[in-house]
Amino acid sequence: MKMKKICIVGASGKLGQYMVQHALDRGLEVVGVCRERSVGKLDRFKGRMAVIPGATDDRAVIEQAVKGCDGVLTVLVPWGVHQYASGTAQAVLDHAPPSARLVFSCGWHITKDGQDVYTWKLKAFVKVFGWLARAARLVELDDQVEACRRIFASNAQWTVVRGSDLEEGESQGLPVWSRHVGDPILKSNMTRRVDFALFMVEALENDELIHEAPAIVGCQTPSALAFRTGSP
Ligand SMILES: NC(=O)c1ccc[n+]([C@@H]2O[C@H](COP(=O)([O-])OP(=O)(O)OC[C@H]3O[C@@H](n4cnc5c(N)ncnc54)[C@H](OP(=O)(O)O)[C@@H]3O)[C@@H](O)[C@H]2O)c1
Repeated sequence: MKMKKICIVGASGKLGQYMVQHALDRGLEVVGVCRERSVGKLDRFKGRMAVIPGATDDRAVIEQAVKGCDGVLTVLVPWGVHQYASGTAQAVLDHAPPSARLVFSCGWHITKDGQDVYTWKLKAFVKVFGWLARAARLVELDDQVEACRRIFASNAQWTVVRGSDLEEGESQGLPVWSRHVGDPILKSNMTRRVDFALFMVEALENDELIHEAPAIVGCQTPSALAFRTGSP
């Protein structure tokens, strides 16, 4: 489906700003949603996009923002302990036009079919970090899991893009992907954030990614270069 107008939920974050840039570069009309206090982070795009300030789990804000959009890019973040991620996902699922392409971001720790194979390091990180962060009332990893469970169960035209570890730097091109964490092509576990954003924006018009949860890795990483032909 050819995109004309899209909404970016969580536009002021690092990933969000890269997505705004890629979308504007493609000539798309962009509506961004971000917290009121973060609107200034989008100043460099002033006059080139519409901004709707508000919490991304505010259903009225999302209803207004996604009106008439062909696609919605949503940054799912685990911040806070008030079901922020699942509230955001639910608002997008409920209010986006039924034909809209919905693309959500999350990390490798999310699994769609339970077939992912995790290193002990990632398992330990999720367990320890998740527990500590929840205890400090900062982060709620379980709620990102719940958000994705709802997305996977919906009939909408969704894609859940699962990011590896991230780094800053110049674009290296579109990341490669695989259905399961643990596949050799993903071994390098590193993607440039600008390219994560590129994958999100490109996914809007890639129907092969509908109802997929691609785990991505930078296309110039050693594992991607070694297993290039293995991408599904
Ligand atoms: N960081 C990683 O290493 C990593 C690895 C794999 C996948 N990912 C995924 O990549 C995506 C982007 O992550 P990122 O780490 O690069 O961060 P990011 O793009 O900078 O996004 C952070 C977002 O969280 C919002 N936020 C921050 N504190 C908040 C709070 N207390 N309450 C509500 N919202 C809050 C920010 O909004 P404001 O602009 O208003 O502050 C911003 O939209 C996420 O889906 C994440 O799961 C990240």
